[in-house]
Amino acid sequence: MLHQSVQFQGDRINRLVSVFQTDMGQLFQGDCLDLFGVLSNNVVDMIFADPPFNLGKDYGKDVSDKLKREEYLEWSKSWLLECIRVLKPGGALFVFNLPSWLIEYGAFLNVNNMLFRHWIACRMPKTFPRGKKLSPAHYGLLYYTKGEPATFNKVYTPIPVCRHCGKEIRDYGGHRNKLNEKGLNLMDVFDDSSEIWKVDEVCEHEHSGAWITLEDMMDDIPPVRHGKYKTRTANELAPIMLERLILLATNAGDLVLDPFGGSGTTYYAAEKLGRSWLGIELGDTSGAVRRLTDYQRGVDVEWESARGNGKRKPDMSQQLSLFRNDLMVGKK
Ligand SMILES: C[S@@+](CC[C@H](N)C(=O)[O-])C[C@H]1O[C@@H](n2cnc3c(N)ncnc32)[C@H](O)[C@@H]1O
Repeated sequence: MLHQSVQFQGDRINRLVSVFQTDMGQLFQGDCLDLFGVLSNNVVDMIFADPPFNLGKDYGKDVSDKLKREEYLEWSKSWLLECIRVLKPGGALFVFNLPSWLIEYGAFLNVNNMLFRHWIACRMPKTFPRGKKLSPAHYGLLYYTKGEPATFNKVYTPIPVCRHCGKEIRDYGGHRNKLNEKGLNLMDVFDDSSEIWKVDEVCEHEHSGAWITLEDMMDDIPPVRHGKYKTRTANELAPIMLERLILLATNAGDLVLDPFGGSGTTYYAAEKLGRSWLGIELGDTSGAVRRLTDYQRGVDVEWESARGNGKRKPDMSQQLSLFRNDLMVGKK
């Protein structure tokens, strides 16, 4: 049965096709505004939205990703307002997009009852020069809550190591021994440090302090590299990113909504972490359904870490089980 707080109301539910359901959640095919249209106010604990960026990508025949700027903003505001409406007081909203759109979203959310928490930078290093502009090197991830956050769990990230020699790449100002055994506090930059700094320098000058500027980096959100699920032409996010956000902003049994389902990354992460979930995708849902079906059957994959196949690749599954053990029993 879907989350107890969710009851679909009104006719618009008839426009949606239910394509997959588990005890924890339900995925529809259709327009997210129709799904929002059947939800009551204040029922969702967390929303993660990764809309098309209006870059002209091909998401299938029913999806236009090339709107005029004003049209795109109007459309964005329509679903942002719905996100605000269906979120419970204290609920969390994460929106992933290009900085140029997020700055508009932020201005809109600021005057619509939402509390700014963080601008998280997700470094995507394989970018290219663009005429008279700086080379864009990150996507943004806005984090707002509907008033003071209802839930803010401590989430730790593995201590970064060099992917070639396996040594730790920072000296923590001589306070390494004071770090929490679980790892570092989650930070507001999701980065891949090995792409920024020459690895040889890191190994030679391990304690030189050359890493100070990376102090607020979180560097293990990789691009999706797992062939089994990288079947879509459009963007697909790494599960570790969703797992962290869900762990940060919800507790077991809370309801997570993603209105732009894509390959189902959010639903997969929610299912794994024991959260209820609700989803919709306007285009092809087969990738998401396949991933969720596989997971239900016990077929799961190891996702590649941001640091590739280094000698001491951080063990994400161990990290996650640590988080889970803490969070499932409500210890923060
Ligand atoms: C950037 S992708 C999301 C990728 C997803 N986060 C993942 O990890 O796979 C955006 C998705 O939104 C879908 N979409 C676009 N307009 C939509 C709408 N009005 N309602 C629901 N889904 C929509 C697109 O088809 C596309 O799959």
